[in-house]
Amino acid sequence: MSLVEVTGLTHSFGDKKIFNNTEIKLFRGDKMGLTGRNGVGKSTLINILTGIVIPDEGYIKWNPKVTYGYLDQQAKIDSDITVKEYLKGAFDYLFKTEERLNDVNNRIAKCKDKNELKKLLEISGECQNMLEANNFYAVNSEIEKVAAGLGITAFGLDTPVGRLSGGQRAKVMLAKLLLQNPDVLLLDEPTNFLDREHIEWLAKFLISFKGSFIIVSHDSGFLSRVVNCISDIEFYTISRYNGTYENFMRQKEQKAENYLRNYNYQQKEIAKLQDYINRNIARASTTAMAQSRRKKLEKMEKLEKPVTAVKPSFTFQYKTISRKPLLKVRSLEVGYTEPLLPKITLTLRAGQKLAVTGFNGIGKSTFLKTICGIIPALSGSFRYEPDVVIGYYEQENVWEDPEKTAFSEIKEEYPTMRDREVRASLARCGLRPEQVMQKLKTLSGGEQAKVKLCKIMLKPCNLLILDEPTNHVETVALMSRL
Ligand SMILES: Nc1ncnc2c1ncn2[C@@H]1O[C@H](COP(=O)(O)OP(=O)(O)OP(=O)(O)O)[C@@H](O)[C@H]1O
Ligand SMILES: [Mg+2]
Repeated sequence: MSLVEVTGLTHSFGDKKIFNNTEIKLFRGDKMGLTGRNGVGKSTLINILTGIVIPDEGYIKWNPKVTYGYLDQQAKIDSDITVKEYLKGAFDYLFKTEERLNDVNNRIAKCKDKNELKKLLEISGECQNMLEANNFYAVNSEIEKVAAGLGITAFGLDTPVGRLSGGQRAKVMLAKLLLQNPDVLLLDEPTNFLDREHIEWLAKFLISFKGSFIIVSHDSGFLSRVVNCISDIEFYTISRYNGTYENFMRQKEQKAENYLRNYNYQQKEIAKLQDYINRNIARASTTAMAQSRRKKLEKMEKLEKPVTAVKPSFTFQYKTISRKPLLKVRSLEVGYTEPLLPKITLTLRAGQKLAVTGFNGIGKSTFLKTICGIIPALSGSFRYEPDVVIGYYEQENVWEDPEKTAFSEIKEEYPTMRDREVRASLARCGLRPEQVMQKLKTLSGGEQAKVKLCKIMLKPCNLLILDEPTNHVETVALMSRL
């Protein structure tokens, strides 16, 4: 029996079709990668499985004995509790059992009645067994193991949850989810907020995970290590491929080639029939033949034209600048109330390409935000050459007004641009025409990232400051431009 299955799934957002009478099944032992280009409906499917999105049509059936967990980054957490307390929440049921055990043991100490005592001892034994069976006495070391693996120890288990950065918060939520150890994990792009070493840890965790999972990730190297089957979304349909990611890629390529061959063959067939019909329908001697071919043509199940994904193409405009140092950073201290990092001193010259690396939450984004003037420096200084123009790409998909459309976001920044140019620029970054007029908040993660890149692309600048630009987006097109 499957752990979960969705059948007869049909869903649209307005005019945009996402699924058309398709299905997905997850079986015990499945370690499933969910793939498909940006905006195809991966996050939507996860939301359908968790009941956040109710599909237009379809039947979602979870096996009642199965527990599942997913990363809800919107979830509210009490901001006063510490990270450790929050993580301990994963074992709430065990702590409750421990409380009960203590209570029963107290009552045993005072109990005079023989029968009552017998009953209490039984309960005490049950509680004790339950705690032991669930490894209760190793809870703390379990928490520490996961916290170290995901790099939480680096920013401290005693930090109040309210003080965490977006990425740190997401990590802590992932840690709790893994500690809860449900039968099925649903993970949507968990590697986006992890550093290389923690991605490595997560990969190992997932490889040895006893349960099943569905995972979305644009990191194909990561996927190929952890999955044993793929569900790929294309043409509003979910197709399952068993075996490795590489095997899936091969099969998918083969399938696409076959489809294209069949499509081209059918198009030729249609053209031939149509031509015959046109030439013969009015001719008395051949009209019967022509009519029968017309019927054949009408009855033919026509293959839809294969849609090729819009390949984004990013070109950043360059504003020339003299060869002087572009940026001088001197003894700069960055942070909020206290410095996050030792004092930074560096000089950046024209043509230099600098990578900022380090653990998640250590202060990379804070450093970039400081030198972009978004948050104040704690001490020290930074100075740009006067004709430096910065193009800044912020890590998080946050918008001043998420109700705005992608079109107006660009148009307001560049009011002199013609409407057609605005549309063309967004298209070049990989947005489909219907998405241009869609509200920013309803665009998928990848689509939002493309709007942000488009904004930078239109501005002639000479210093790009990019904070994790490859999260969410197919990366090849971007890399060749940097
Ligand atoms: N509430 C909504 N209203 C209109 N369109 C929506 C809404 N929510 C999602 N969409 C659209 O549905 C499509 C599927 O979105 P979804 O977030 O599921 O894509 P995805 O496969 O997860 O993409 P990505 O790889 O970029 O994360 C996108 O084109 C998105 O713009
Ligand atoms: Mg998504």
